[in-house]
Amino acid sequence: LNVGCIPSKALLHTSHLFAEAVHGFAAQGISVGPPSIDVPRMIARKNGIVDQLTGGIKGLFKKNKVTLLNGHGSFAGGGEGAWQVKVGDETVEAKQVVIATGSRARHLPGVAVDNAMVCDNVGALNIDAVPKKLAIIGAGVIGLEMGSVWSRLGAEVTILEALPDFLSVADADVAKEAAKVFKKQGLDIQLGVAIGEVKVSKRGVSVAYADKAGVAQQLDADRLIVSVGRVPNTDGLNAEAVGLKLDERGRIDVDDHCRTNLPGVWAVGDVVRGPMLAHKAMEEAVMVAERIAGQAGHCCFDTIPWVLYTHPEIAWVGKTEQQLKADGVAYKVGKIPFMANGRALGMGDTTGFVKMLADAATDRILGVHVIGANASELISEAVVAMEFGAASEDLARICHAHPTLSEVMHEAALACDKRPLHF
Ligand code: NAI
Repeated sequence: LNVGCIPSKALLHTSHLFAEAVHGFAAQGISVGPPSIDVPRMIARKNGIVDQLTGGIKGLFKKNKVTLLNGHGSFAGGGEGAWQVKVGDETVEAKQVVIATGSRARHLPGVAVDNAMVCDNVGALNIDAVPKKLAIIGAGVIGLEMGSVWSRLGAEVTILEALPDFLSVADADVAKEAAKVFKKQGLDIQLGVAIGEVKVSKRGVSVAYADKAGVAQQLDADRLIVSVGRVPNTDGLNAEAVGLKLDERGRIDVDDHCRTNLPGVWAVGDVVRGPMLAHKAMEEAVMVAERIAGQAGHCCFDTIPWVLYTHPEIAWVGKTEQQLKADGVAYKVGKIPFMANGRALGMGDTTGFVKMLADAATDRILGVHVIGANASELISEAVVAMEFGAASEDLARICHAHPTLSEVMHEAALACDKRPLHF
């Protein structure tokens, strides 16, 4: 709410509108003078949204009679049925404890983050003027989203990525399409680099690196964003005092129901295994609350959607084609571009496709991958279908409103059986 999903989406929206005004309006017959961006106003709008939502949580606490103790919490001792948790000077006792301490940005050794010149996700959301040149280390979710924001507003953005493959968590077809589109948008993404010394001066930041051929290079920029993943927040929990078990990566060790090794102590979200996604944390938290209440809470980790809020958006659920190949699963593919979709044409936004993967023998949907406008919303249909154990034929036989982008999902389902109607 504070330094992730919500503020970044606010900035992505503003910068998207700006980019539309620069590149998209003319084709639709709209002429305006060259647009300008008031960055402080954009940031203030973003802060207003964050304040509204955080205020909303306070309201919900009050309504639901939840007492908030402000401060860092740590275990002070105790045992089953009576854990002692210290918050500031106060120590409270609880039968059940849920740890949801989240994560923080991983920093690179020798690269001090001041969130002014060198930013992590926190500073990246508060840059006060469009940098002429912006360097980003890490072409993951944050690198691509923040790179998109500042590139749309006019910054020259270079992203340095250690891995040789671009967006390797995504389906390879999607990653290939995304690389093509982002390049066209002006993002310079250098793969397979090794970062060397980072020097910061009053004038800017200079990043020494070896490119994929091993040749020494230097990137000079006005600002640097470091987005190389996140680490779980377990420091200061005083886990040792109660014998709370961490895993080999420093996360709190939990089972499928988010139970730790201690009775009555649970952990959810970024601080435990699994993708660091807010909606995954939320699902786990609801499950834990239900379990504490004696109900049968459950999370289906196979149907957690992933979304990148770039433009086009990228979203998927389930297995990628490369995972199915590695697992030796026989599958069929239905892949339909947005190119011929009437709604996409009307919107002037026909980039991308929907790709559906279904089991060759049973037709059960195993994965759905979308790159295109509104992918973040479109993916919900696939999540529902997979939760219900749907076959591609089930989606193919469902009426989809016309004209909508969801018709491409429908066609992809039909294409799994080699009978698309409009392509
Ligand atoms: P990430 O794990 O998505 O990407 C980090 C990238 O940095 C990887 O591609 C990695 O290979 C690269 N990298 C690591 N060390 C490097 C080095 N020394 N030099 C160059 N490249 C290096 O992590 P990111 O982008 O920091 O995001 C953190 C978390 O926040 C992720 O788990 C992500 O899921 C979550 N997030 C989710 C969003 C969403 O759902 N839309 C939006 C933003 C963040």
